[in-house]
Amino acid sequence: MLNLDEILRYLRATDEETLSELWARADTVRRECVGDAVHLRGLIEISNFCQANCAYCGIRAGNPLPVRYRMEISEILQQVKLAEKLGYGTVVLQAGESPGRLPAAWVTELLCAIREISSQAVTLSLGERPEKDYAAWRDAGANRYLLRFETGNAELFAKIHPGHPGLETRLLALKMLRSLGYELGSGIMIGIPGESWEDLAADILRFHSLNLDMIGVGPFLPHAQTPLGKQFIEKMVASQVPNDEMTTLKVIALTRLVRPYANIPSTTALATINMSGGYELGLSRGANIIMPNVTPAKYRELYEIYPAKTRTADAAEIFDQNLKKRILALGRKIGTGAGNSVNFSCYTDSKSDAR
Ligand code: 5AD
Repeated sequence: MLNLDEILRYLRATDEETLSELWARADTVRRECVGDAVHLRGLIEISNFCQANCAYCGIRAGNPLPVRYRMEISEILQQVKLAEKLGYGTVVLQAGESPGRLPAAWVTELLCAIREISSQAVTLSLGERPEKDYAAWRDAGANRYLLRFETGNAELFAKIHPGHPGLETRLLALKMLRSLGYELGSGIMIGIPGESWEDLAADILRFHSLNLDMIGVGPFLPHAQTPLGKQFIEKMVASQVPNDEMTTLKVIALTRLVRPYANIPSTTALATINMSGGYELGLSRGANIIMPNVTPAKYRELYEIYPAKTRTADAAEIFDQNLKKRILALGRKIGTGAGNSVNFSCYTDSKSDAR
């Protein structure tokens, strides 16, 4: 496996030869380990209530602007059916972190309702919760959990997560999820103000040590209604990791090299900084997943974790048709089935048979 120095060499590279070598290595490993299928996961942003105050995020508790919503269970089921109709083997239920507005029992009821109508894999992305919540949801049929650690630099983590007990608590949550038998996803933002190349290289190595099944990375996108966004817009910090497309593609490629069997999305944040070809570039440089947004339009515009996200808010069916054409044009295939982690099936217990 790549070591820290090799990762740093690729991250800092600007010459064509080194970059071409990185792209080719990543694409070869992707093809050999996870094949040509691009699995589609239908993202449903079920609520924007949030009690956290992450300094980068537009739905942070301290932002008074977004009207807050929680979708009705019946509305969510409609979108699950839509995702199934479009052939997506997985739905991802994402929300702000809000035990008050998203009580564990409500989520359990939702999961049971989904299990009545669908055998799609269910991924949760609901932030940090007590272990008993994670356990109840796993029992109710949730298969996977996404919880990014955002940065492995503990000082920077503390700075961008005011009121949070710290990086160790986030890492502990990941451990809990793993031991409960979830397929585990995490990841980072790239180019957070104050992030160094060494931080980024260490984060990539951490993807391996955390034994992640799914790894999502995307550029930090400054949101004007957040402290970090304001700071970034006012004063671009010199000599730090840029939050640009090239760096994001390098991180995707290096992530594929350190986690050959992982599911790696070409993320919406990447597609936001390159609307015409971001998805394709991610897929060509190591990624094998796309997460089309199937949130109803009226809620999607209220789930603005970063700006311009809503500009991609085509109707789900139209977006889906275009996306599938774009994937096929790359010479790739549309994934069928749940697209479980290859990595995961190697060591999981019998509970995973129901996936
Ligand atoms: N820019 C980029 N990514 C962001 N996220 C939240 N806010 C931003 C932003 N301003 C990402 C975080 C979070 C995920 C749901 O969205 O990494 O984990």
